[in-house]
Amino acid sequence: MARHLITSALPYINGIKHLGNMVGSMLPADVYSRYLRQRGHDVLYICATDEHGTPAELAAKEQGLPVAEFCAQAHDAQKAVYDGFALAFDYFGRSSSAENREITQHFARKLNENGFIEERAIRQVYSPADGRFLPDRYVEGTCPHCGYDKARGDQCENCTRVLDPTDLINPRSAISGSTDLEVRETKHLFLLQSKLQHEVEQWVARHEADWPQLASSIARKWLNEGLHDRAITRDLDWGVPVPADTWPELAAEGKVFYVWFDAPIEYIGATKEWADQDPENRDWKSWWYEADDTVRYTEFMAKDNVPFHTVMFPATELGVREPWKKVDYVKAFNWLTYYGGKFSTSQKRGVFTDQALDILPADYWRYFLIANAPESDDSSFTWEHFTATVNKDLADTLGNFVNRVLSFSRKRFGEEVPAGGEPGEAERKLGEEIARLLAEYEEHMEALQFRKAAATLRALWSAGNSYLEEKAPWLEIKTDKEGAALTLRTAMNLIHLYAVVSEPFIPATAKTMREAFSLPDDTAVWVTQDEAKALTAVPAGTPFTVPPVLFAKLTDEDLATYKDRFGGESA
Ligand code: MF3
Ligand code: ZN
Repeated sequence: MARHLITSALPYINGIKHLGNMVGSMLPADVYSRYLRQRGHDVLYICATDEHGTPAELAAKEQGLPVAEFCAQAHDAQKAVYDGFALAFDYFGRSSSAENREITQHFARKLNENGFIEERAIRQVYSPADGRFLPDRYVEGTCPHCGYDKARGDQCENCTRVLDPTDLINPRSAISGSTDLEVRETKHLFLLQSKLQHEVEQWVARHEADWPQLASSIARKWLNEGLHDRAITRDLDWGVPVPADTWPELAAEGKVFYVWFDAPIEYIGATKEWADQDPENRDWKSWWYEADDTVRYTEFMAKDNVPFHTVMFPATELGVREPWKKVDYVKAFNWLTYYGGKFSTSQKRGVFTDQALDILPADYWRYFLIANAPESDDSSFTWEHFTATVNKDLADTLGNFVNRVLSFSRKRFGEEVPAGGEPGEAERKLGEEIARLLAEYEEHMEALQFRKAAATLRALWSAGNSYLEEKAPWLEIKTDKEGAALTLRTAMNLIHLYAVVSEPFIPATAKTMREAFSLPDDTAVWVTQDEAKALTAVPAGTPFTVPPVLFAKLTDEDLATYKDRFGGESA
């Protein structure tokens, strides 16, 4: 069994994330982690809040809180939502932790020793109207590559190219809008990425064939443009301080590392946080340092994060000249749109994760989002599609099946799984079909093809419905009571199988389905091919209860209410 290290892009601290963020990183990472744990692998799923940088400072200022306090509260608020979504992190850390400070400073010292850091005087944008140097992303203007007029000084979100603020055409302050910008001289540390270009290229070349096309094409594009040396420090109060033992002058000036330098290092930092809070996790370093081939590292992220994870962070890791684990597989996602337009935190368009949980339990969202994950292309969230999917797949195909089978059996045979009848041709056919679909489901999960996996899961649920329609136990019972008992018992075995295999997608519902049966020793973590064919894990005589309706059907009125509250069309 392999050891699987899994991380999802660290959500930025400045606010509750929307559904687009959720489906592009944390949720699929959780589904994958849950699946691998069920298959008996040793999994470490790490995430954290990304807390440094100007947006955190500005958000804190807006709320009248010291930035450290703001981040502590915002971290807890995000954590509560992720608990609500049943994200089973092994640890959810904070990039402002002592652990991350220590490792980030260590990385910087090593990069410096190895000749990959240089101190340079640079000219930086200063805004007299704002009374401060403007960090890259607080300079806005027109992208010189694609002409997008809201490009930020660090990256154009339209064409994903990485920029310097001075590249922008018609620059302005994103804080005040002031176009009265000056350039002043100040000293910063530069990471000499150009010196690492060749090594990064070789490293990417060894991996890109395995990566999804979206990840490798972005990495390629970036490498072809050439790796540029990048300033990795900033003039801010909030961040990992430049270590005074190595750069006394810059430390005295209060320089901190740029948030994109310390954020990916927090994948490691959070793993150490995980170890520091529980002595059992002492071996944390075996996941990261001199990790052997049994550790497979998979990262989840949206496409705007791909350059940082396929090129920039690997360059940092390579330059450290220590055997830190580098990513094996990069699972990248396109955008989830809201009625074809952008989800926008600043313009409050779309659905935020906390609001989503106010409306409906996590499993509704988990299933819908993964079944429509923007894997090969952007995909669009609409309330029409959401309600239709919930009603058809969750309420009808799965929920109704479970309730119908259990209530009918209770009514006619009492509160135990009924005995009688011998499996025949219909059961053999069903078993074959279930085993075939199960193998397909495993294949898609192992290939991290989440939409396909969801479609196969739906097909597994449907197979139960077809079987039930074919056998029609409500008619069968009139002429052949034993036969009806067999049909219901087989259907109940399907429910138990669904409970096991649906767990990565809908963990709460899976638990309810499983707990409907009081099996003395229900330790099943997965279903073998033979078990799928036999469908006898739940024997006659097992007591069961009928759970409340698993998924409520959403009405036209619900749909109207959602559209009214959130806005039902593109901007
Ligand atoms: N906070 C970044 C974002 O929201 C992602 C950081 S990922 C990490 O886009 F690798 F830097 F941690
Ligand atoms: Zn652009």
